Amino acid sequence: MIVAGVTADYGIGSGVADRLGAEYCRFFSKVFPDGESYLRLEREMKGDDVLLVQGMDSNQDKRLFEMLMAADAVTNAGANNVYGLITYMAYARQDRTFGPGEPISARVALRALHDAGISRLAVIEPHKEEELSYFKGRSMPIEVLGSVAREAVRITGAEKLIAPDYGSSPRVKKIAEDLGIEWDYIEKKRSRDDGSLSMGKGLERIDGVKALVLDDMISTGGTAALAVGEAISKGAASVSVAAAHMLLVGNAYEKIKNAGANHIFGSNSTGSKGCETVDVSHETADALSRLMGD
Ligand code: R5P
Repeated sequence: MIVAGVTADYGIGSGVADRLGAEYCRFFSKVFPDGESYLRLEREMKGDDVLLVQGMDSNQDKRLFEMLMAADAVTNAGANNVYGLITYMAYARQDRTFGPGEPISARVALRALHDAGISRLAVIEPHKEEELSYFKGRSMPIEVLGSVAREAVRITGAEKLIAPDYGSSPRVKKIAEDLGIEWDYIEKKRSRDDGSLSMGKGLERIDGVKALVLDDMISTGGTAALAVGEAISKGAASVSVAAAHMLLVGNAYEKIKNAGANHIFGSNSTGSKGCETVDVSHETADALSRLMGD
């Protein structure tokens, strides 16, 4: 088995290879003067199983296309099975049409990955597990949020998890129960017109409690900042934030810090962007063994 980092794998590729006892290598890549990408894997791979690893948290179109080119390259070179691991899946949030004339972008991406030669695909914390059914081969979501939460609780001593919206509350409840700590949730409302956030149900009083806001992903940071502010206003002794995917777009990091967060934790599914990083390559490798196993 060869594990090949495409152009952005944030240490997960080598961590997975270590855990699986596989060889790790990276594609050589460069960008032509006109902006097009060029890739080459400088290694024989005829008859080998190859796992391609790529994150798509920034330069999304380029990263997706590079993953397609990588799949084509190893298929052409005679790889036996071509597997894919996407550490953060771009376009996952457009998993259906929300209005007339729109594409289902997640379906476009997942179909293309299969057509390029990937037979089995794992995605770390996809937006929704059901959307993986757009991939025509075998697919698997990999959960890492529990591991990120466990590490954040260990470091901060958090006594209560906070789900920053109702949708995430069942997961946060389950993780809190696994960790043996309390939890609560906030009801977040996002305006369809301008994307602005407001709050429905707030938190109970948490005087003197160390809290941890836990979400699947942080993009602009508005949701996390709202939750941090609410926890502080209800008496929390300290508040930190953890998420599986830290996109931290624009000034998101400063926004969350300015709201009063002590620590910001994310997994290495994305580039760290200044937050404290939890390496999730071991649990990712264990899940991949199940995907590739039979
Ligand atoms: C929403 O459903 C997600 O779970 C996140 O809460 C959301 O994507 C965070 O976005 P932002 O950081 O832009 O508020």
